[in-house]
Amino acid sequence: MKVGFIGLGHMGTGMAANLLRAGHEVTVHNRTPGRSQALVEQGARDAAQVADACRGDAVITMLADDDAVESVVLGGKGVIDSLGTGATHVSMSTISVALSERLAAAHAKAGQRLVAAPVFGRPDVAAAAQLFIVAAGAPEDIDACGPLFTALGQRTFAVGSEPQAANLVKLSGNFLLASVIEALGEAMALVGKAGIDRRQYLDLLTSTLFTAPVYRTYGGLIAEQKFEPAGFAAPLGHKDIRLTLAAGERLRVPMPLASLLHDRFLALLAQGGEALDWSGIGRLAAKDAGQVDRLW
Ligand SMILES: NC(=O)c1ccc[n+]([C@@H]2O[C@H](COP(=O)([O-])OP(=O)(O)OC[C@H]3O[C@@H](n4cnc5c(N)ncnc54)[C@H](OP(=O)(O)O)[C@@H]3O)[C@@H](O)[C@H]2O)c1
Repeated sequence: MKVGFIGLGHMGTGMAANLLRAGHEVTVHNRTPGRSQALVEQGARDAAQVADACRGDAVITMLADDDAVESVVLGGKGVIDSLGTGATHVSMSTISVALSERLAAAHAKAGQRLVAAPVFGRPDVAAAAQLFIVAAGAPEDIDACGPLFTALGQRTFAVGSEPQAANLVKLSGNFLLASVIEALGEAMALVGKAGIDRRQYLDLLTSTLFTAPVYRTYGGLIAEQKFEPAGFAAPLGHKDIRLTLAAGERLRVPMPLASLLHDRFLALLAQGGEALDWSGIGRLAAKDAGQVDRLW
């Protein structure tokens, strides 16, 4: 397919490379210039402006947050202004349910299609084309994106015909991930303060009742206290919990655990954790327990 790709961050760079590898004709754009060099060497065309990435069958956005998507899509000379009639915006960032609804309305008004397709998987998973894609939109539009999703991920789950359904599912998943990270941090602080080896403890967990990848990945980061370099940065984790709470508020769903996680992320950011991985909240319990003086 002829596709534009906007947002060459931790996730987007590997994803755009996989589209090229699968034989798609890819035009890339990033707000900060200079991020596209390696992709251009692999055959991508570099677009200086958002509009230049919107000339194909579809344009993918993989941007940080609501503000970024709002300015790139709804702003002047953005995606809405530039995408052709009948072409598709594939919105893969983790954004709010409310913004996804606004995007759907704006694209419909402009005669364009919207598929929301946020993903599960960290940058290494994205680079290996092994993402899990959660898609929502008109079934025929999701089907038309099939060749793109095949190039990017290992499996696509269609969760509804309203694009925002995919954003809600994605946020609920990140809420669960953050809950596991917090719980692992507390459990490891408990056994660690008693002098039990954290790595051995993790081996016990992941060899018995806690075999899921999430325990292995985040348990490993917490056991090793390895929160840099960030694969998924702490401010983005904070953003996802904020958006989860906003979705809960709109639907009148109290989420006390999400409220607690919101404060945990605030504590992490307040104590200088901006550049850390979001699993850095897994060290807060050790600090509260007096095991470490500072977060880093
Ligand atoms: N990392 C993960 O493990 C992971 C996993 C699943 C989903 N996600 C989601 O995927 C999305 C991207 O994550 P990431 O880790 O790739 O983030 P990232 O490395 O921080 O990259 C963010 C991208 O957004 C662009 N951007 C930020 N603000 C902008 C603005 N106002 N206008 C235009 N462009 C802007 C950045 O451009 P510049 O280069 O100019 O800053 C960059 O291309 C996020 O929604 C995240 O929640 C991430």
